Amino acid sequence: MLIVYESKTGFTKRYANMLAAKTRLKVLRVKELSKVNQDEEIIFLGWMKVGKIKGLDKLRKYNVKAVCGSGTGRTAEPDNEAVIARNKIEGIPFFYLRGGCFPLKELKGMDKIMLSMFLKMLKSRKDKDEKLEEAISIIENGFDGVKEENLEPVLKWLNTR
Ligand SMILES: Cc1cc2nc3c(=O)[nH]c(=O)nc-3n(C[C@H](O)[C@H](O)[C@H](O)COP(=O)(O)O)c2cc1C
Repeated sequence: MLIVYESKTGFTKRYANMLAAKTRLKVLRVKELSKVNQDEEIIFLGWMKVGKIKGLDKLRKYNVKAVCGSGTGRTAEPDNEAVIARNKIEGIPFFYLRGGCFPLKELKGMDKIMLSMFLKMLKSRKDKDEKLEEAISIIENGFDGVKEENLEPVLKWLNTR
């Protein structure tokens, strides 16, 4: 089993390295896939962008046994089932890992534009509940949700194999 990950700002990378330290599995970036034999079993970790797990499409021909998606919400948005369907990973375990993000003012390019639009949309809602207020604060101020304990379900799954 190998760990393969895709990370833009480093939060998913931290989970991949944490998992590697705990399991002693080798860890590689998606960019290094050419080194991987297609039969080799893989646990994949990717960051989530508007519900899509980034990097996963590059592993379609590989032997992916489980997928982890990292996002900023408390849970996968809108829910695990929707993420599984959207990313076509029915039949293999999916684990949501709470990642994090840098404050909007520190972002650049398309990501900044997309998140600015999303923030504007969130702020325009009249029915703001606690979850929505938290989402607004996370985008504006940044957030770090990476914790070792979030990997426990993944480690449990690995131990049952
Ligand atoms: C443009 C953009 C879209 C995002 N869309 C989602 C999303 O749909 N769901 C989610 O949970 N997180 C979303 N996020 C947050 C990232 O997935 C999250 O911050 C992730 O932990 C970043 O991982 P990385 O540091 O490895 O790149 C989005 C971030 C950006 C910049």
